[in-house]
Amino acid sequence: MSEEIKKGLLGIVVDETEVSKVMPEINSLTYRGYAAQDLCEYCRFEEVAYLILNKDLPNSIQLKQFEKEEKNNRELSKNLYEIIKHMPKKSHPMDVARTAVSVMGLEDKETSNSSPEANMRKALRIFAKTPTALAAFYRIRSGKKIIKPKKELTFAENFFYMCFGKVPQKEIVKAFDVSLILYAEHSFNVSTFTARTITSSLSDIHGAITGAIASLKGPLHGGANEEVMHMMKKIKKPENALKWINNALKNKEVVMGFGHRVYKSGDSRVPTMRQYFGKVAKIKKDKTFEKIYDIVEKVMIKKKNIHPNVDYPTGPTYHLMGFDTDFFTPIFVISRITGWSAHIMEQHAANKLIRPLAKYKGNKHRKVMELNYR
Ligand code: COA
Repeated sequence: MSEEIKKGLLGIVVDETEVSKVMPEINSLTYRGYAAQDLCEYCRFEEVAYLILNKDLPNSIQLKQFEKEEKNNRELSKNLYEIIKHMPKKSHPMDVARTAVSVMGLEDKETSNSSPEANMRKALRIFAKTPTALAAFYRIRSGKKIIKPKKELTFAENFFYMCFGKVPQKEIVKAFDVSLILYAEHSFNVSTFTARTITSSLSDIHGAITGAIASLKGPLHGGANEEVMHMMKKIKKPENALKWINNALKNKEVVMGFGHRVYKSGDSRVPTMRQYFGKVAKIKKDKTFEKIYDIVEKVMIKKKNIHPNVDYPTGPTYHLMGFDTDFFTPIFVISRITGWSAHIMEQHAANKLIRPLAKYKGNKHRKVMELNYR
């Protein structure tokens, strides 16, 4: 057997998928065959969520039913609200999301039923409840009263409402919706692969999503959108940007929001998100971060030929929308639950235990002698 090591599974094709296709050679991404940019232009996030979970775009009756189910499942149990109230206020919201989904698994009557039908019902419940859990923590940690979900509002509007008590203008909601569409799915990235790996032992969907959230938290994955904002805050003013990025490159620092394992000449999601970042900056009459964005990007491409990934424009966009920086990756979670769930169901449908090999490089065989401290 070959012992060639492919660290990070670089370039390894481990399975097939029908959920999405990343095409780095043409900078393109499709969900179930539809280009993500077109979905951003013509669809609401709920329609894309339906597409990812159900393999096709909905007709009007299917959409109505899907939205009804999502709205009917937004509320949390009293128990979960209490648990969130008692969480340390300094907890990272990603840890809150991870714990909340885990508790949902304790409370769900169908936890041990992994049939396709039960998994679809559970996926929808996790999808509907996670934003409520996160928004509840958002309010509680700053001493504010929890705002319960409102059924009259769309998924995106409701999240703003539960966090801030009001829904912003429609252009801001659209930009948020677009970010959710772009974050919804991206093939075998590390958190999705984590979810599939957990599923491959025939474990349940709550466990797989809990693990995926832990994986997404890392700064090399979803956590990058928060790191981008920390970087932009450090740079502070456009006048500082050139010096900052040149210094960072001189010191061989990893610049967050740049680079990608699959895309090497640009992330297909960036142009769309960049456009909506610009729209939000214009509405908020604050071009500071846009100017910093452009300067850093130009230098990264010119000096390193490394392009931004989708976390680069989403970070400052969420900041301008008013979200705390540590809520950026949790927003990624509420969207990616759709992609994770689709992959979990796909893994169940054609499962093979994921169990790679390792080349041993530890001690040679040793003999146990009588221990001299006895
Ligand atoms: N800043 C500076 N240099 C970078 C870089 C970045 N963001 N991303 C990659 N590079 C450099 C590496 O240092 C490496 O240089 P070397 O060959 O001289 O050592 C080269 O480009 C290849 O990068 P590597 O880390 O091996 O690629 P990868 O496919 O393993 O990593 C990422 C991909 C995403 C982990 C990496 O680009 C990164 O850390 N980016 C920042 C975090 C981020 O934005 N993550 C979100 C991804 S969507």
